[in-house]
Amino acid sequence: MASGQRGSPQDLNTCLPRILLLLALLVTSAEGSAFSLKECLVLPSAEGSTVSCHGATEFPSPLPADTVHLSVEFSNLTQLPASALRACPRLRELHLSSNRLQALSLGLLASVPRLRVLDLTHNELRGLPPGLFRSSAALRTLVLRDNRLQAASARWLWGLRALGHLDLAGNRLRTLPPRLLTGLRALSTLDLGHNLLETLPSDLLWGPRRLQRLHLEGNRLRRLGDGLLAPQPFLRVLFLSDNRLAEVAAGAFRGLRQLDMLDLSNNSLSSTPPGLWASLGRPARDMQDGFDVSHNPWVCDKDLRDLCRWVHANRHKMFSPNDTRCAGPEALRGRLLLDVAELGSL
Ligand SMILES: *[C@@H]1O[C@H](CO)[C@@H](O)[C@H](O)[C@H]1NC(C)=O
Ligand SMILES: *[C@@H]1O[C@H](CO)[C@@H](O)[C@H](O)[C@H]1NC(C)=O
Ligand SMILES: *[C@@H]1O[C@H](CO)[C@@H](O)[C@H](O)[C@H]1NC(C)=O
Repeated sequence: MASGQRGSPQDLNTCLPRILLLLALLVTSAEGSAFSLKECLVLPSAEGSTVSCHGATEFPSPLPADTVHLSVEFSNLTQLPASALRACPRLRELHLSSNRLQALSLGLLASVPRLRVLDLTHNELRGLPPGLFRSSAALRTLVLRDNRLQAASARWLWGLRALGHLDLAGNRLRTLPPRLLTGLRALSTLDLGHNLLETLPSDLLWGPRRLQRLHLEGNRLRRLGDGLLAPQPFLRVLFLSDNRLAEVAAGAFRGLRQLDMLDLSNNSLSSTPPGLWASLGRPARDMQDGFDVSHNPWVCDKDLRDLCRWVHANRHKMFSPNDTRCAGPEALRGRLLLDVAELGSL
């Protein structure tokens, strides 16, 4: 399976070196900062201050007025006062991962209109106040991964005109409301993986102008319909692994012009309809990354001819060929799909 290729927001990756740099600077600088925030390191710079707090028991205060980057992570914060950010109107990045936040106040972000990155990974959020982001027209990256979100409201995400990366993975979403992404025109990566989704509204992807990566793995989806992907012809990466897909509609991939990665592994597919594969891979173009259809109960009879032909033509881009086997009919049970395809014996 190819899910190891998933991307993560770069901001998270740059966090550790930054903290180490802070430590180094603190050790070498004789003067402490003008602000003495318990459990926090403050690094002033021409751009504005960076404040990093670990194990803080309360939200740090007072914050330097020129704070542009604030991290309060791996602490046990259970709440943030609505006024917490009022002191730092220039804030661009806010990292609050690994706390115990259960709710956010409606006005929290009103005073930080330049915020570009908000990371709330691994908290205990059950919902968001509708309208939370109405002043967040500059936000590019929003990470809500590993919370307890359920029953999403269409109004949660209003105002996020510049949002490029939305991560809602690892929550408890069962359904999504229509028009959830309306207005998120700049969205290029959407991660809805590892929720409890059984169906998706057919208009889900109306809104973004050019979605490139879509993560739906680890849900309970049973069917992929014709219309879902239609608004996104430039989709490059599609993860649908670890669902319960038993059916993919014949037109589900129609119109996809640039798909370079498709993961359908570990579903309940026994067959695919004629024409499904026509728009993907060879002969039209090579997929750059590849595809995975392993761990499905394929029934290798004449109804699988279309898939077999396509797999054969694109075998140089196939992941997990050894785990892609026929579950039936009895005579072919356990045979590699690729071998059956090679023989052209269907
Ligand atoms: C947070 O709570 C956990 C569990 O109660 C505890 O083990 C941990 O030390 C606490 N962390 C901080 C920074 O207070
Ligand atoms: C298939 O997906 C289920 C969840 O839907 C997971 O529990 C299981 O480990 C996966 N199996 C493989 C072989 O990846
Ligand atoms: C292919 O799969 C079989 C059965 O699952 C396993 O016994 C064998 O070791 C695998 N071969 C390779 C090269 O991975």
